[in-house]
Amino acid sequence: MRCPILSTRELRQAIELVPRIRLAHLPTPLEEVRRFAAALGGPRLFLKRDDCTGLLFGGNKTRHNEFLLADALRQNADVVVWGAGVQSNNCRQTAAACNKLGLECHLYLSRASHNDDIQGNLLLDHLMGAKVTIVDAPIGPGVDQILLAEAEKLRRAGRRPYVWDRCTGRPLGAASYLLCLAEIIDQLRDESLEPAAIYVASAGATGAGLALGRVVLGLRCPVRLVSPIPWPWDVRADLAEVANQTAALLRLPHRLTADDVDLTEDHIGPAYGTVTAAGREAIRLLAHSEGILLDPVYTAKGMAGLIADVRQGRFPPEAVVVFIHTGGTPAVFAYRDELLAPVGDQGTAHRAHS
Ligand SMILES: Cc1ncc(COP(=O)(O)O)c(C=O)c1O
Repeated sequence: MRCPILSTRELRQAIELVPRIRLAHLPTPLEEVRRFAAALGGPRLFLKRDDCTGLLFGGNKTRHNEFLLADALRQNADVVVWGAGVQSNNCRQTAAACNKLGLECHLYLSRASHNDDIQGNLLLDHLMGAKVTIVDAPIGPGVDQILLAEAEKLRRAGRRPYVWDRCTGRPLGAASYLLCLAEIIDQLRDESLEPAAIYVASAGATGAGLALGRVVLGLRCPVRLVSPIPWPWDVRADLAEVANQTAALLRLPHRLTADDVDLTEDHIGPAYGTVTAAGREAIRLLAHSEGILLDPVYTAKGMAGLIADVRQGRFPPEAVVVFIHTGGTPAVFAYRDELLAPVGDQGTAHRAHS
């Protein structure tokens, strides 16, 4: 059976099945960055400004939270239990969204990948009044186990926790990136443009949603995921599974395999959360040509992937390439030493004070 190709309007209608609350300033702008493209000698480049989703410095997780926290409200939760790395953009945006919705926010933040100086995202968590606990478990399933245990304690104490759970949470987050892709396609169509490729830094729900959206909307261009983190599992197969759970949630017949997920792990560097030379170059080039900041952990690596492909001559000059800027910029304050270290010394400075 061939699956139907949906218009952006039909895709939006399908997503209306899922409860959503409005948190983000949407649509985010799609901005052509001509001076940056000229500096690369590359194709036409556009930034989808999801760093401008509005809530507490913006980012992709505010889109995710429109669905996740709608689910929390539907379940009548009174406290949200969330966790990730100590410089988590996700947790910072979630703490802000909880305040907007009158929910208490408990964060469990891992110092396994960065020092726990109160700076950047961690400072913002504190300013939001979230209850912050620093843990040693690694991000991913390690922190997730702590969240489940803490939620259980709260439940026994008579509270109604809504806890981050990767099984139910990732398809909800992915649904929000189908909407983002529909926005991009509509914005390009308004300018009579067709994308030659779409890039994003992701190895999670964001990328799963975009990969599914590509198939559902019948796009011919690649959606290229540049991974910021070396998960110890088959990431392409994992994201295809998340995409399929999302399709089931939206009652869409489309199904993906690992081959439908275009993902590279070539730009991670020595580890998650380290600053790479190519990432620093991406930050400098975009900042100096356009006055726009990337973050060192995610978007700088994503952009480094795009720059490498441009330099390999992947695109003719008239091609239209979109990079989704997923935010993360408050992290620059926590990465001051690594960002300012002499070239050749990057990626290790944070370990000196971790
Ligand atoms: C700035 C930024 N970009 C990209 C991502 C990746 O999102 P995902 O986990 O949905 O792939 C994150 C995740 O925290 C992020 O903070």
